[in-house]
Amino acid sequence: MKALVLSGGKGTRLRPLTYTMAKQLVPIANQPILGYVMGHLSQAGIEEVGVIVAPETQREVREYLKDGKKWQFKITYILQEQPLGLAHAVKIAQPFLGSSPFVMYLGDNLLGSGICDAIDHFRAEPADALVFLKHVPDPTAFGVAELDERGGIKRLIEKPKDPPSDLALVGVYLFTPRIHQAISCIKPSWRGELEITDAIQALIEMRASVRGEILKGWWLDTGKKDDFLAANTVVLDEYTKRDIQGEVDSKSHVEGRVYICRGAKVIRSEVRGPVIIGPEAEIVDSFIGPFSSIGKGSRISNSVIEHIVILEQAVVDGVGRIEDSLIGRHARVTKGQRHTEALRLMIGDHSQVEI
Ligand code: G1P
Repeated sequence: MKALVLSGGKGTRLRPLTYTMAKQLVPIANQPILGYVMGHLSQAGIEEVGVIVAPETQREVREYLKDGKKWQFKITYILQEQPLGLAHAVKIAQPFLGSSPFVMYLGDNLLGSGICDAIDHFRAEPADALVFLKHVPDPTAFGVAELDERGGIKRLIEKPKDPPSDLALVGVYLFTPRIHQAISCIKPSWRGELEITDAIQALIEMRASVRGEILKGWWLDTGKKDDFLAANTVVLDEYTKRDIQGEVDSKSHVEGRVYICRGAKVIRSEVRGPVIIGPEAEIVDSFIGPFSSIGKGSRISNSVIEHIVILEQAVVDGVGRIEDSLIGRHARVTKGQRHTEALRLMIGDHSQVEI
C-alpha cells in the first residue's frame, strides 16, 4: 500500500502565520503537524509516500521532509500548481499511485489513534473506500455523511448548509484504484474544487463498496486558531512527560509534566505543566501556565502566559497576562516605555488582536 499526503493549499484560515509558512508545518507541541502524519505512516509500515506540495510552500516542506529516510520511506513530491481540490490532488498523483491501493492523509489533520488499525480493517474487510467519521458540533465546516438504517453510508455532502447529521468526514481515507474512475466523473464544486467527498459519492453511485467507521480516538483538524490551540492542548496532555534537560535555577519552581529542552533556561519563574519549552528558550521572572508550547529561542520575561503557542524566536516581555493565543516566529509582544493607556501596534494582514 502507498500513501498520499496532502501538504498544499494556502492555509487561509491560519493567516497571517501561513503567509510565511506552510500550514502543515505550524508546530503542535513544538513538532510540525506533518511530523505526526509521517510518524503515523511509518508506524503503519508504509514504504512509498507521495507528497502533494504547492508552489508557495514546497521549498520548506521539502526541507523538512527531505527524502523521507528519517521515517524509513521513500518520498515522491508532486506539485499541485493551484489549490484545485483534494480529488484534483489524487488525479495528478495518479502516475505515482498507479494501480496500488492507498491511504490519503490530509497534512493538517491529526488522529490520536494513528492509522495502523484503519489499514488492518481495510485489509481484513476490503472495500473500494473506507472513510472515518466523527461526531462534531459544527458539521457545516466539513464533508458530512448521511447514514442509512443499517449504519451504511447513504450519501456524502461537502460543507452542507443544512447538514443531515453531525458526522464529519475525517481527513484520512483508504482507497482502491477505483477512486480514479470516480474522480473522472465529477465536476468542480461551488468553491471551484474537485472534492474528494464528491468522488466518494460518485463511488456510491457506481455501486462500489464504500464503508464508514466511526473513529474512536480523537481527531483534530488544525485549520483555525482555536482548533489549533485545542490540538496543542490535546497533544501536550497526551504526550508530554516530565523531562528537564535545560537549566532551572534555585528560585524557580517547575511542577508537573514539563519538558524543558537542552539549552533552555528557567530563571526566577514558575512553570506548571503540561508545558514544552524548546531549545535555547528563556523564561525569566514569569509564570508559564498549563498547555503552553514555547518555541526554540523564544524569550518570555516579566509575563504570565497560559494556553498559548509561541513559535520560534519570539519575544514576550512585561505584558501582564496572555492566554489562548498563537504568536508567530520572531514576533515581539512588549510593554511600551511611555506611561500611557494607548496601544502601539504593528500588525500584519489578517492578524487578530483582542483587547
Ligand atoms: C477537507 C474535506 C472535508 C473534510 C475535511 C477534514 O476540507 O473537503 O470533507 O471533512 O477536509 O479536515 P477542507 O480542509 O478542504 O475545508
